[in-house]
Amino acid sequence: MTASIKPLNFTICAECKTSKARVGKMELPHGVVDTPVFMPVGTQGTLKGILPEQLEKLDLQIMLANTYHLGSKPGVDVLKKAGGLHKFMNWNKNLLTDSGGFQMVSLLKLAEITEAGVKFESLNEQKSEVMLTPEHSIEIQNAIGADIIMQLDDVVKTTNPDKERIEVSVHRTTRWLDRCLKAHNRQHDQSLFPIVQGTLYEDLREVSAKDLIQREVNGYAIGGLSGGESKDDFWKMVFLSAKLLPKNKPRYLMGVGFAIDLVVCCALGVDMFDCVFPTRTARFGCGLIRSGQLNLRSSKYKKDFKPIDEDCDCSTCQNYTRAYLHCIVTNIPVACHLLTIHNVSFQLRLMKDIRNSVSENTFPEFVADFMLKNYPKKD
Ligand code: GUN
Ligand code: ZN
Repeated sequence: MTASIKPLNFTICAECKTSKARVGKMELPHGVVDTPVFMPVGTQGTLKGILPEQLEKLDLQIMLANTYHLGSKPGVDVLKKAGGLHKFMNWNKNLLTDSGGFQMVSLLKLAEITEAGVKFESLNEQKSEVMLTPEHSIEIQNAIGADIIMQLDDVVKTTNPDKERIEVSVHRTTRWLDRCLKAHNRQHDQSLFPIVQGTLYEDLREVSAKDLIQREVNGYAIGGLSGGESKDDFWKMVFLSAKLLPKNKPRYLMGVGFAIDLVVCCALGVDMFDCVFPTRTARFGCGLIRSGQLNLRSSKYKKDFKPIDEDCDCSTCQNYTRAYLHCIVTNIPVACHLLTIHNVSFQLRLMKDIRNSVSENTFPEFVADFMLKNYPKKD
């Protein structure tokens, strides 16, 4: 008999001596993922403006999709018939699905959370009200077949100071985790991650993390952040949550993708990130560079014949100038395609540079250089 292989094997390859940054390898059913990793978001089984084969050429190893969107269209039956989302969307690398509730609560004002689950108005016109329970979220995620799936969690906005409500959300999230684990029937090839909640309360984050780590899982997420709180509060909560999670398992910080946060949170020991920001901002005509971003709609680029970023080897920077991009930026499909290629490449290169600097023991110098570029010294 062959030994059973876990659906996720995490190996730490190098550690920074100064900070908590580490470089790892996550072996998943659809290939290896080098960590720290940034995962772009393809909400409905497509990353807008770019094809899966183009993403594979960029060396993307993992991307995100969203449960509720896919559960509503194409739906569980079609996904099962198609043999899962990888096949349906022609993506042979890894996928991670978020559980759905967070998207509903942040997108729809009418979502109502009870012990049973998250109730909201349907995206689908035929049904007016839908209840997403932990069991239903897992049923959809099992049908999608992503390599990493997320528990349904009770997310409270960081701007809500109601501690009693947040305490309820922390305990409910643990109860929902247990319901998710019970409903999960693809443990052999899908890893289910719990999500630490507790907004900005240190004691509640601690309760949350300590409860969740009692459950035998392959990795943990930090949620409920990046919702309008100050950077100080945000980074403090990441530091605290990451410290409470086991060292030998990947730590995933949800919904974070600004370059500065990626650099700081890698230093705090985070291994995985996702965010719609790089791809969404591409659709608004913004190209990312190490010192910030270029709004290519601005007329200052009219005669600027440099690429978006001279250090970037992506096909957009190799073949197109800022002036050209400025000229076509109102042609949404083409500009969106070219800028998405650049912005995804930018995020991947940033993460690669972070990994290389940790491996070569130069991460502190990398951080210093990055900060200087972002916050230049004023003479
Ligand atoms: N995306 C960003 N933050 C969160 C969170 O707290 N929970 C879930 N499920 N998804 C997120
Ligand atoms: Zn580029």
